Amino acid sequence: RPAAAAASTTLPFQPIPPVPASVDALTVPDGYAWHPVIRWGDPVLPGAPAFDPEAQTPEAQALQFGYNNDYLDVLADPSGLTGVLVVNHEYSNEGIMFPPSLGAVERSRITKMAQGMSVVEIERDAIGAPWRATVGRRSRRITVETPFALVGPAAGGALLRTVDDPSGRMVRGTLGNCAGGTTPWGTVLSGEENFNGYFTTPTATAATSRYGLSASPSSTRWELEDPRFRAADGHEQEANRFGYIVEIDPQDPTSTPVKHTALGRFKHEGANVRIGEDRRVVAYMGDDERGDYLYKFVSKHRYNDGTGPGARRQNLQLLSEGDLFVARFSGTSPAAEVDGSGALPADGAFDGTGQWIPLTLGGRSMVPGMSVEEVLVHTRLAADLVRPTKMDRPEDVEPHPTTGRVYVALTNNSQRGSRHPLDEANPRTGNRDGHVVELTELQGASGTAFAWSILLLCGDPASPSTYFAGYPKELVSPISCPDNVAFDAAGNLWISTDGQPGTLGLDDGLFKVSLEGPTRGRVEQFLAVPVDAETCGPVIHDREGSVFVAVQHPGEDGSWEVQRSAFPDYGATGPGTFAGPRPSVVQVVRA
Ligand code: FEO
Ligand code: CA
Ligand code: CA
Ligand code: CA
Repeated sequence: RPAAAAASTTLPFQPIPPVPASVDALTVPDGYAWHPVIRWGDPVLPGAPAFDPEAQTPEAQALQFGYNNDYLDVLADPSGLTGVLVVNHEYSNEGIMFPPSLGAVERSRITKMAQGMSVVEIERDAIGAPWRATVGRRSRRITVETPFALVGPAAGGALLRTVDDPSGRMVRGTLGNCAGGTTPWGTVLSGEENFNGYFTTPTATAATSRYGLSASPSSTRWELEDPRFRAADGHEQEANRFGYIVEIDPQDPTSTPVKHTALGRFKHEGANVRIGEDRRVVAYMGDDERGDYLYKFVSKHRYNDGTGPGARRQNLQLLSEGDLFVARFSGTSPAAEVDGSGALPADGAFDGTGQWIPLTLGGRSMVPGMSVEEVLVHTRLAADLVRPTKMDRPEDVEPHPTTGRVYVALTNNSQRGSRHPLDEANPRTGNRDGHVVELTELQGASGTAFAWSILLLCGDPASPSTYFAGYPKELVSPISCPDNVAFDAAGNLWISTDGQPGTLGLDDGLFKVSLEGPTRGRVEQFLAVPVDAETCGPVIHDREGSVFVAVQHPGEDGSWEVQRSAFPDYGATGPGTFAGPRPSVVQVVRA
């Protein structure tokens, strides 16, 4: 069992022991308690009916909290007593959500309202007291029917026009919203990740194949009701209008959310923005696919730190114009020393330098034979032509708030060492447990050169293939499949996982990782989520003794009749007898 954390933090805890994957509980350290802030089906908008799983309708779901919460942030107002909770709803689990009597058409109409995003008004009695959800002026549901403006260099172009939108500038909805980030100007970014699964695409092209669009029926079957999800009859390009970073203003429920073509189109995990030394803003982004790439965007214009509406208006334009780069990593060690086992090379580190290779620069395409519009809509095809490094599924990529170093979660890659050759940045064959890379910009945030090293090779610490920045392995918690990352006010890295049941036989969890001094590399498990769930969206308010996580897809391998999870109510929930799981945002507080 790992040693206790340093007492210098306001969030002291004794790490929890690993929790077997069969356990249907939210497990927190001694001295902490948890409560759901909001659950699937709870009211978001005025007039929302009480959650009744046996009488679900699309009209009710459109007013209620959606399914499968992923990214979250808690944005307190200056008073500290009110605020907004912003949440992604990545997808839905029809098999456990709906009674078998509910017909396919009605299911499809409900799941369309269960995905997207929620903006939830929150309040509390005192700073440090638990937050609770309420309904207020800023409350909002964003669904697959909400209008989004396409902005940036590709907006209005031929690749983005459909029979429904000959302008190529207005899209209904957002899909597959996975991770995200809050910008310095107070908006929220959300990544459209697995959008391909929502479309059926009868005619294959190089682009549709590269993005995983296929002729198979979609996962939701929305195409049976809504022709735009079938790529035919004028809707051939509808899928070109998804796969972006979207930006919403959670303070203004009447604002039109936007999709940023300047940040490229791929399976965006999320985006995290910082202000560079030259005041341009830099967004770091991962493309979550085996063998896909790490990207960054650098704005043309500079951040305006004024507080008036003029400054805010300018900052809202920052992600619409700029340069897009993709990363190429080089190692310091001979290839023969990267043998796939995870054993450190002779120089003692998986490390090296790297380059940000421009795809667009100064408004021009840097990719031979492709226009700017083609680069930004078919970004994977463009990147393939400039030889970036194929990574082990880039998930969250986030700059540290004080050191500026960038942390890249690479969740796993079963094809490493076979389809994707080993390299020093992705050094393990079949990379089952994933790793975390630490990247240091060498010419400032907007520059093109970086240094990198592997911080963690995740897995069972008893395995010789793991590495925890040199920290003694007998003192760390097992960790596998890093997905989301966050930082606390003391500068520690926090990692949530997605996939431990399949790799370690353990429930997924949330882990604190020390980055500095003699404890660098110490991984300590803070919590574990219920059966089948992944841990998402960690937010660490350590100064208030509080941690937030989104519990996504609890009990997803069950059925309506045989539920595997009863999280978070652990008893009948609402009217009727439903005792199945409800994905929820949870706050953990010191008891
Ligand atoms: Fe939706 Fe890459 O996790
Ligand atoms: Ca090396
Ligand atoms: Ca994720
Ligand atoms: Ca994931």
